[in-house]
Amino acid sequence: MNIIFMGPPGAGKGTQAERIVQQFNIPHISTGDAFRAAMSQETALGLEAKKYVNQGLLVPDEITIGIVNERLKQNDCAEGFLLDGFPRTISQADALATILAQDGKQISFVINLKVNRNLLLDRLTGRRICKSCGATFHLVFNPTTVPGVCDKCSGELYQRADDTVEKVGTRLDEYEKWTSPLLEYYSAKGTLKEVNGELEIEVVTKQIDEILRGPAE
Ligand code: AP5
Ligand code: MG
Repeated sequence: MNIIFMGPPGAGKGTQAERIVQQFNIPHISTGDAFRAAMSQETALGLEAKKYVNQGLLVPDEITIGIVNERLKQNDCAEGFLLDGFPRTISQADALATILAQDGKQISFVINLKVNRNLLLDRLTGRRICKSCGATFHLVFNPTTVPGVCDKCSGELYQRADDTVEKVGTRLDEYEKWTSPLLEYYSAKGTLKEVNGELEIEVVTKQIDEILRGPAE
């Protein structure tokens, strides 16, 4: 199954992806995570990406498409994958379709997590991430048992540099300008499925799971 998770910053793409890939045993491909890993390793890609990511702006299409193209060629994607945060522009979506068509593949489902803009700021400014395993938590909505310590691996938690009020505003504007037109794009292709992302984390997972598995017999 070839899945795309869409939704504005803070909609819950990463949170839901962590849960869904375990159930379907497919790789979780997050372009945001790939950029942050390259940034922390200070590779050439990381230094270039940093100029955009830390401002809340989209990384140019050529760079982003190149990363996804390389990643999708790896063997673990043969039976399916979950793309989180890609595509984010019409050019990226067209490139993805071309990449998949070369292997006779196509997108099975585009899951759009719908969350009202006024909830997103609280979600993002309260988010904390594990430095070791990358698990996502929230100070209020999904707190760890011991403050500052990951429940899964006891790693240290940190706050993303782009999770400030100012950067979140820019990221939401980028989403409206470049990414929201993709909803119409995938709706026209018949692959778009809308999910209410404002419900509790477990309830959202259940909605997605039902879409991916199809109606119960
Ligand atoms: P990326 O890392 O993808 O960031 P984003 O799209 O801004 O999305 P987030 O990761 O902030 O939110 P999310 O939807 O994953 O929410 P989460 O599950 O963490 O991209 C970062 C940057 O990289 C971009 O700005 C850009 O510069 C660059 N980039 C990446 N992809 C690119 C592309 N394709 N093209 C160009 N540039 C690209 O949840 C958020 C918080 O809410 C958490 O604390 C969580 O615990 C909590 N939460 C989640 N679900 C719920 C719920 N149901 N109820 C209550 N709280 C919840
Ligand atoms: Mg994310």
